[in-house]
Amino acid sequence: MLISVKNLCKEYDNEGIVTRALCGVTFDIADGEFVSIMGPSGSGKSTLMQLLGFLDRPTDGEYFFQGKDTKNFSDDDLAFLRNQKIGFVFQSFNLLPRTTVFENVELPLLYDERKESRGLLNRKVHDALRSVNLENRISNFSNQLSGGEQQRVAIARALVNDPALILADEPTGNLDSKNGLQIMRILQRLNNDGHTIVMVTHETYTSEHAKRIIQMLDGKVENDYLVKKRRIADGEEELLK
Ligand SMILES: Nc1ncnc2c1ncn2[C@@H]1O[C@H](COP(=O)(O)OP(=O)(O)OP(=O)(O)O)[C@@H](O)[C@H]1O
Ligand SMILES: [Mg+2]
Repeated sequence: MLISVKNLCKEYDNEGIVTRALCGVTFDIADGEFVSIMGPSGSGKSTLMQLLGFLDRPTDGEYFFQGKDTKNFSDDDLAFLRNQKIGFVFQSFNLLPRTTVFENVELPLLYDERKESRGLLNRKVHDALRSVNLENRISNFSNQLSGGEQQRVAIARALVNDPALILADEPTGNLDSKNGLQIMRILQRLNNDGHTIVMVTHETYTSEHAKRIIQMLDGKVENDYLVKKRRIADGEEELLK
């Protein structure tokens, strides 16, 4: 099992004001799944993504990643997992401005202590950009790109280390429907190639591109089910299967 969480809880304590963002969350995610996390604003979706991506630690409960209990992992262990095993895609793209597409995608590779050869790094960046069809923009500055293109660069950056898990928090939230569909097409293709994807969205329509939907309410899992008629983003079209 790639992910196994049991009774996961997260409370934020800001100067004595405690907010319970997640409580008693339990589920498994296997390698190769494509899961949408749905739920109203404030239901704990982003908090859950931050815990799954080791950006934050739970206040209670268990998190097994690739079979290992993460409870006693050091901050360095978690930083290593974040860099090597997780690719993040955010609603707001989070690219470095005045920096080229190449440099943005290369960034996660530079944290790797193995010090791979220049040639290998170049090839990984090119491969990642090819998989989002943006090799031709490799020398552009990231702020010269459209929103849809910037999100594709962000996906290439998330992919470049060949992570075990891609976490995307509202990846189409800042895009129009045409660009959103293109992102769904890329995510579905990556999933077909074996990548495990967990994506937050508040749009039912977007969520139905995944294979499974976990619905959150008030910090709890309200519902967890397989998508019966999955939407397949295919070119400009969409098919129901
Ligand atoms: N750093 C923080 N400190 C205190 N409370 C927080 C913090 N981050 C989130 N919360 C609270 O935790 C709850 C869950 O927030 P979270 O961001 O996970 O919701 P969400 O489902 O992602 O919502 P949205 O759809 O608006 O993005 C909310 O009540 C929120 O106010
Ligand atoms: Mg959120």
